[in-house]
Amino acid sequence: MTITFVGHGYVGLVTACIFADFGNKVWVIGHTKEKIERLKKADPIIYEPGLKELLEKNLRANRILFTLDYNKAIPESDIVFIAVGTPPKEDGDADLSSLFEVTKKIGQHLKKGKTVVSCKSTVPVGTNKKIEIILRESKPKSAQAQVASCPEFLREGSAIYDTLNPDRVVIGSDSKTAIATLIELHQPIDGKRVITDLASAEIIKYTSNAMLATKISFANLIAFYCEKSGADVENVLDAVGMDKRIGRVFMDPGVGYGGSCLPKDVKALIKIGQTLQIDPAFLIAVENINQQIREGFLHKILTNAKEKHITIWGLSFKPNTDDIRDAPSSYIIARLLGKKFTISVYDPAGRENTKKLFGNALTYHNNPYTAVRNASALVILTEWNEFKQADLKKVKTLMKKPLIFDGRNIFHPEMVKKLGFQYFSVGRKPV
Ligand code: UDX
Repeated sequence: MTITFVGHGYVGLVTACIFADFGNKVWVIGHTKEKIERLKKADPIIYEPGLKELLEKNLRANRILFTLDYNKAIPESDIVFIAVGTPPKEDGDADLSSLFEVTKKIGQHLKKGKTVVSCKSTVPVGTNKKIEIILRESKPKSAQAQVASCPEFLREGSAIYDTLNPDRVVIGSDSKTAIATLIELHQPIDGKRVITDLASAEIIKYTSNAMLATKISFANLIAFYCEKSGADVENVLDAVGMDKRIGRVFMDPGVGYGGSCLPKDVKALIKIGQTLQIDPAFLIAVENINQQIREGFLHKILTNAKEKHITIWGLSFKPNTDDIRDAPSSYIIARLLGKKFTISVYDPAGRENTKKLFGNALTYHNNPYTAVRNASALVILTEWNEFKQADLKKVKTLMKKPLIFDGRNIFHPEMVKKLGFQYFSVGRKPV
């Protein structure tokens, strides 16, 4: 098949490379010349394990092509995927302006008899119906567009694996042809198929991300209960999670959820609720707990770090990505700088993006050990494996004070205590 992706972020680029790898001809349309030139030279722009190699391979085989020109890609495509960002507006609502803009351009360039236009961007209920209208109004008379919603569930850091091994492939459409075409395209991919209507597909995506955020906030709420009552949240959640009806995955307490999806999608679902006159109090609580857990952790640092030169390990919103969008680190760093802390930072991938945000206000290190030299406290905000395996004896000799604030519970309190550290974590007694 010939496929076009409009958008080359985590969803667009990863999925485009995978469909190209299956032997399809894949066009990727962007709107910035400099980025398209970088992509043509096998620079994926984003950091995602395995993506550069996959891109290189498919560029060499001429199966993936990058362009700014809709006219090159759209007319010959069997399927066009819309994979542009839907960032939150001030009021939490999803900003659909670029999505509608590209939809109009797609419509204007449709030539073939029938093209499936499938939305991969996360969009509020009813958006695909609007896409249908825009296409109908912008396309030439001879062209036909069938709209489908094909939400994406990949996680940053394991995007290639997730795309190849999804738990489910959701296809929502009123068109039998669109459904059949998308089923055929997804043939080489594992996972159950869920064939449904447009509105259900749209709401499945928001529900999934809101449920994940709910699990995390619930774990963090219980962490507060444990802290106040002297219990150990890890033991509590391990035991609770043994109940198969509940499970333990995505219940890791810490400094809360960040990234480009969970915070934005909870906000958007709150807004959708308000529009539909449904009380979204439950989701507002999920969001509030995420904020409270960051504040609670910050409070621990402010009340227990007597000196103000600290080191932060972990800037990206989670391991295996350089993405710092809505990362707990950005919030915590800004607050600590406001309290006149001097901060040294280390992250295996998130340094450059953090630099764009904080510039010279921080001291950046290429190595976790040089970063802790003379620090009066070490603050851990992302659970990179490199930190879990760190030589803490060495860390202790380098630091001015053996004090750790662990926002991801990566160490066992007794082990760290034995090494002579004072140790604060989340939902567990300080030692
Ligand atoms: C998420 C969804 O998982 C994915 O299905 C969807 O397609 C896009 O949004 P992603 O944003 O890449 O993926 O990150 P995810 O792995 O979900 O983690 C989100 C945040 O939650 C991170 O900040 C992570 O540190 C935090 N988290 C995750 C916890 O605090 N505790 C957990 O138990 C799990």
